[in-house]
Amino acid sequence: MGRYKDAHDSSLADPRAFWAEAAKGIDWDQPWDTLFDDSNPPFYRWFQGGQLNTCYNALDRHVESGRADQLALIYDSPVTDSVKRYSFRELRDATALFAGVLAAQGVGKGDRVILYMPMVPEALIAMLACARIGAVHSVVFGGFASSELATRIDDSKPKAMVSASCGIEVNRVIEYKPLLDAALDMAAHKPDSCIVLQRPQATASMTAGRDVDWREAEATAQPHGCVSVAATDPLYILYTSGTTGQPKGIVRDNGGHAVALNWSMKNIYDVEPGEVYWAASDVGWVVGHSYIVYAPLLAGCTTLLYEGKPVGTPDAGAFWRVISEHQVSAMFTAPTAFRAIRQQDPEGEYIGKYDLSKFRTLYLAGERCDPDTLSWAQQKLKVPVIDHWWQTETGWAIAANCMGIEELPVKAGSPTCAVPGWDVSVLNSEGNPVEPGTIGSIVCKLPLPPGTLLTIWNADHRYQESYLQEFPGYYETGDAGMIDEDGYIHVMARTDDIINVAGHRLSTGAMEEVLAAHPDVAECAVIGVADSLKGQLPVGFMVLKAGVDRANDEIAKDVVSMVRDRIGPVAAFKLATVVQRLPKTRSGKILRATMRKIADGESFKTPATIDDPAIIDEITESLSGLGYPKG
Ligand code: COA
Ligand code: AMP
Repeated sequence: MGRYKDAHDSSLADPRAFWAEAAKGIDWDQPWDTLFDDSNPPFYRWFQGGQLNTCYNALDRHVESGRADQLALIYDSPVTDSVKRYSFRELRDATALFAGVLAAQGVGKGDRVILYMPMVPEALIAMLACARIGAVHSVVFGGFASSELATRIDDSKPKAMVSASCGIEVNRVIEYKPLLDAALDMAAHKPDSCIVLQRPQATASMTAGRDVDWREAEATAQPHGCVSVAATDPLYILYTSGTTGQPKGIVRDNGGHAVALNWSMKNIYDVEPGEVYWAASDVGWVVGHSYIVYAPLLAGCTTLLYEGKPVGTPDAGAFWRVISEHQVSAMFTAPTAFRAIRQQDPEGEYIGKYDLSKFRTLYLAGERCDPDTLSWAQQKLKVPVIDHWWQTETGWAIAANCMGIEELPVKAGSPTCAVPGWDVSVLNSEGNPVEPGTIGSIVCKLPLPPGTLLTIWNADHRYQESYLQEFPGYYETGDAGMIDEDGYIHVMARTDDIINVAGHRLSTGAMEEVLAAHPDVAECAVIGVADSLKGQLPVGFMVLKAGVDRANDEIAKDVVSMVRDRIGPVAAFKLATVVQRLPKTRSGKILRATMRKIADGESFKTPATIDDPAIIDEITESLSGLGYPKG
């Protein structure tokens, strides 16, 4: 562990020197006065006083330093049967022009812009154009329903919206504009304009005076230059699930973000400028923000934008085709994608049909990587398979096998060790460090390295309550796990009610709010049960109000469609059942963890505090009616 340990030790011994060195990888309009400002804890700021532009660093500087004709972006879209390539010059020009469109709509520095976009180049262009003029983007994943979009509109109060006429899910055209219109009807805040990209697969109807056609607006726009912003100014807000229906708007800065992400490309992912890097995620998630858009471009790599699925577009060889056709060096996706491929091609026969000779490393994150999936990927691909652990809040990896520093031996089930910059420990419920190998809450000592969350948008108190209050002096990750004798981190489960469905982070609390809104439901619980494809799936339990005479399965159908309408299809909420009672402690707390263990067939002890032990049998019976535990 020589080189890795040296790097990690030095990053913690002298973080200022470590990050000042990393900051040389970024072009600054004005250097910082204070490398690390701790005058207002816990609101720490990196590179205070520095000025830069993130879009300049992602595009213009590469054009100016000899990469103008190198590919910046490859858009590969099996769902539209097309491939489009942009050099750095072309992507810079397209971005500058769209920045001009935004400016013509009155969007300026500090204004928010919500993007509700499918996986098309214009999604990246709009994000980078916001960064170019100092506007703050907030991308909302296309699988979220109108009411989720409305919540984000009311929280971030955007000046403008950017959307497209549709997204394409395998072979289904999903019209986005009606969803956008419904969200705007629901929201109290009304943005001045909506810029809409008309795709050939669907034509959006436009509201005169508010909606602007992307291409028509471009025809009269002037390219816009890069606006210098403070390193500490917000670059984006990205909403993520919390414990309630009110999502948390994670705020990221410009300076620390650019420094950390640029550093990560060489040190974590071991890719060089000019190489092709592919994150098969969605621009609506943090992985998409960091590793489809910003990090590869900051580092001068070619990024790949894939509008398709691991299977079904057209087959389980889709990933291998993309890797071979575009000479991908490093790929990043979620383990669930590999489970989907393996389910359809257990022997990995498609892999042999493609030339993967340029492909060096597979990176997995977004959910726990089960050892089975890890070993299948290792055996079939014959390249290192690197699990790494991070969160929307952190923006980049907390734990990884840093391939550009030193490749450490892989331990199945562990994302390896803390990345330089991260001081990770495991604490017990009293807040004391535990012995190696003992499970507890995984925390990171404050201050966090650059590129991590500044706060929650408009909710400094919520930032402190959610992350900093439980363990003073530490950031609480919300994950439970352990660190073993060798310093390897093992991430086991969430300590809150967040579940991970196909690599998508969802709140069971938010789903419970939807179920509770059904007129016949007296109380409810939603738990995440293990699923061999998606990792976890939500299951709802409802106790009905006295005197309800509708059939139970009718009510179950209602709540399934309510969750789809109010949260979105991405919640994959398809199972709900009526029970007589919910298991609770004597103080009235629902025993969700016990319910989950019953569903997963894990051994459990009936909690001593249970109100009525007989309810356990009733729940076991209901779950068995739904087919749980599996197998
Ligand atoms: N717009 C509209 N609808 C969307 C959507 C989008 N951008 N993304 C997903 N949906 C819909 C899907 O069509 C599906 O709808 P359905 O219930 O009508 O079938 C539902 O939301 C659930 O989607 P998903 O969880 O993606 O399931 P799936 O069955 O379509 O695909 C996988 C399963 C495993 C192939 C897929 O989830 C996958 O590729 N995951 C990779 C994970 C990933 O990218 N994670 C990000 C972090 S790295
Ligand atoms: P998100 O904010 O959507 O990136 O989800 C973050 C959460 O996903 C983490 O808090 C973990 O619970 C889980 N997660 C992400 N990556 C991993 C990993 N490599 N191993 C285990 N859990 C992970």
